[in-house]
Amino acid sequence: MISSTLIILQPDDWHVHLRDGSMLAAVLPFTTRVFGRAIVMPNLKKPITTVESAIAYRKRIKNFCAEGITDERLVTTNKFNPLMTMYLTDTLDSNELVRGHAENVIIAAKLYPAGVTTNSVSGVTDIKAINPLLETMEKIGMPLLIHGEVNDPEVDIFDRERIFIEKYLIPLHRQHQGLKIVLEHITTADAVSFIESTNLNICATVTPHHLHLNRNAMFQEGLCSDFYCLPVLKRDHHKQALRRAVTSGNPKFFLGTDSAPHPRNRKETSCGCAGIFNASHAIESYTQVFEEEGKLDLLEAFTSKNGPKFYGLPLNQSRIVLEKKQQLVPKQINWIAADHKKISLVPLHAGKRLLWSLKNIC
Ligand code: NCD
Ligand code: ZN
Repeated sequence: MISSTLIILQPDDWHVHLRDGSMLAAVLPFTTRVFGRAIVMPNLKKPITTVESAIAYRKRIKNFCAEGITDERLVTTNKFNPLMTMYLTDTLDSNELVRGHAENVIIAAKLYPAGVTTNSVSGVTDIKAINPLLETMEKIGMPLLIHGEVNDPEVDIFDRERIFIEKYLIPLHRQHQGLKIVLEHITTADAVSFIESTNLNICATVTPHHLHLNRNAMFQEGLCSDFYCLPVLKRDHHKQALRRAVTSGNPKFFLGTDSAPHPRNRKETSCGCAGIFNASHAIESYTQVFEEEGKLDLLEAFTSKNGPKFYGLPLNQSRIVLEKKQQLVPKQINWIAADHKKISLVPLHAGKRLLWSLKNIC
């Protein structure tokens, strides 16, 4: 069989949850094996709300990188550049954003409507009330990253993204036209249309799971919490709209895995956490989507060019080599942390074959 290869600029992950402590140690190598940079989400149990805590968190991540090879999965992590974000709250002082920006620590700030997802209880309760923060961000050129869902028990969970866009995002964008915004992990045709209809100041990230799965995945042969994430998976026509958008060549869409690991006992329980761990096979998963859509030539723009362009950062210098070589995704990824804690993760595509493999970085 003739094997084909694909060489693209090294990608970045513009939305990842790396967590902390032993979970950080367990998942970090999967991100660093392929991504040059990553936007690190600030929703730790104690969220990142100060410049100091962002510096300390960055240091913890870099320390694991510097440790080098921690197990056989690791390529080399020393060059990995974690880009830190601030968690917006009702009471955050705008000076903290100004300082974080000036000291080159904070690249963006994340808006979680309070209670909308994992570790968002300290999020924003009234978006209008953070207007001064948004004005500051607009002034200093700091992007606003949004978890775009309403947290209203009256609103059906499958409509929460659409209603957020109508009720909050459109007015916010109108009021802060100079503010750069990323609507994170979009899941609906409505979000795609909105992004397509706006200017270059507002872009969107798309996850691999929302490109591969529809909401049936959560209910196939029983209730599958492994496929439960937020925003929740939607109907198939929304998935199709996302696939069309990312493979259209439109620079407003870029890679953001939203890889969100949770310990097994927090997924397999009567009230399981939202979040899908996909970092282990993310690039292969995206590549397969582009191939299925007959758009492999547009993969690199989505994975490696549109994001840096939006954030005003240089492109990565290195390249990655992808090989058309099947691989079986393990049913579970197990790891024993230094504190002897056993971490088991079920990756996206567990037990399934992917058609591409990462060969190397060059
Ligand atoms: C994320 C997490 O676990 O931190 N969960 C998820 O389902 N995506 C939070 C988030 O991005 O909503
Ligand atoms: Zn996320």
